[in-house]
Amino acid sequence: MNDKYTTSAFDRSSREANKVGVIGLGYVGLPLAMACVRKGLQVIGIEVDERKLQLLKDGKSYIQDIDDDELEAAVGSGRLVPTSDYGQLTEASGIIICVPTPLTEEHTPDVSFITNACMCLRAYLQPNQLVVVESTTYPGTTRELVQPLLEQSGLKAGADFHLAYSPERIDPGNHSYPVEDVPKLVSGITPRCLERVTELYGCIFRHVVPVSSTDIAEAAKLLENSFRLINISFINEFAKLCDELRLNIWEVIEAASTKPYGFMPFQPGPGIGGHCIPVDPLYLQWTARRSGAESRFIELSHDTNETMPQYMVNRIIRLLGPDRTLSGSSILLIGIAYKKNIADMRESSALPLIKLLQQAGAEVKYYDPYVPSVRIGASVMHSVELTDEVLSGAGCVVIHTDHGGLPIERIVAKAAALYDARNATRGMQGAGKLERFGDGTRAGVQ
Ligand SMILES: NC(=O)c1ccc[n+]([C@@H]2O[C@H](COP(=O)([O-])OP(=O)(O)OC[C@H]3O[C@@H](n4cnc5c(N)ncnc54)[C@H](O)[C@@H]3O)[C@@H](O)[C@H]2O)c1
Repeated sequence: MNDKYTTSAFDRSSREANKVGVIGLGYVGLPLAMACVRKGLQVIGIEVDERKLQLLKDGKSYIQDIDDDELEAAVGSGRLVPTSDYGQLTEASGIIICVPTPLTEEHTPDVSFITNACMCLRAYLQPNQLVVVESTTYPGTTRELVQPLLEQSGLKAGADFHLAYSPERIDPGNHSYPVEDVPKLVSGITPRCLERVTELYGCIFRHVVPVSSTDIAEAAKLLENSFRLINISFINEFAKLCDELRLNIWEVIEAASTKPYGFMPFQPGPGIGGHCIPVDPLYLQWTARRSGAESRFIELSHDTNETMPQYMVNRIIRLLGPDRTLSGSSILLIGIAYKKNIADMRESSALPLIKLLQQAGAEVKYYDPYVPSVRIGASVMHSVELTDEVLSGAGCVVIHTDHGGLPIERIVAKAAALYDARNATRGMQGAGKLERFGDGTRAGVQ
């Protein structure tokens, strides 16, 4: 692997060289498209979701990290062209694929979005174009799946067009690391493909880090996300243990974090969500199984994560106390997105939590300033207004997601019983009963 370096050698001499295509304008593709615009490139943004496409054409952002003014200016000036027409990609010098990679019902990789994107693209693929896959996927995808699909165009990868893989590391809602500032791994199926992606990405990102093969870059992304799954699952297990031992996990983490090396703090919570951390490690697990190997850490971490909503339900039952059951109790969830300050509900632990509470007969409401409504099975729930009456009328209030700007003091003052899964109420005394995940307190039992 070469050292990381910065370059801006991408050929900007012709109009075409300044044009890139981004396929899939979601949490990854839209910020990437806007980063390209900021660097002076013209972007053809391909999106198949009609609702999103219309919003983009109207200059309206559906991603918190992109503001309407910047988007409107980019679309209005023609620097970002949102379209569903793959034919417009013939003019682009580089085409970046940012489509979803979810799981099938059997928890195996669902690469159908990549397949569809490649099948749409191959009809318009031009000699000398660069195609970069950014979607997170199992090692081997670019070579085994993308390359043969694109070669059905009649063009040969590495000879007639260039094929590369660069994993996306964006952290939605995290403003400390703008997308351009995060070091970008790049790889190609030939040395020339690597050169081409390094040139293009050198125009967009501050640090470009070439690695020796697309398989290495694909695996690196899975290592990063498996590392997070395993560590967050472990800290959740530790938090449960602290609950039993009547120790305060939050203080334990703070104490351990004073070690200047060899320790990295992870925060407990009600379960790991999002499109990446609970999903990507299962791509690795599938790869391991495919080659007859095992991935026991991932298996265990996945199982630990799956049990978190039931653990939360058990703690709520304990907090309600021996005289009350969930059946007939009203439970108010504060925050249901999978993490703070974003609207993303994918794999949010609030979804199984709501289902479990409802199955036990509870009447569930939620408040989330980022999520106005959510589908739970066949029905749709709407965020309630967080009035004093709603707070004091709930049998138990649960802080599930600690969005910035929540009126924590008012919640603590009004809730008859409050279960805080995020330590958002640290140091506070509840007017009613108050328990925090992992802090060892017992408000519901003597
Ligand atoms: N969300 C994250 O924080 C994050 C971070 C790093 C990597 N990733 C990876 O990036 C990839 C994209 O994730 P995302 O969160 O942006 O997903 P997303 O669902 O937010 O966005 C994907 C977009 O692609 C569109 N799309 C699907 N098929 C298409 C097609 N054939 N042509 C054009 N558009 C199409 C969808 O309508 C959607 O708008 C995934 O592989 C994910 O694992 C995501």
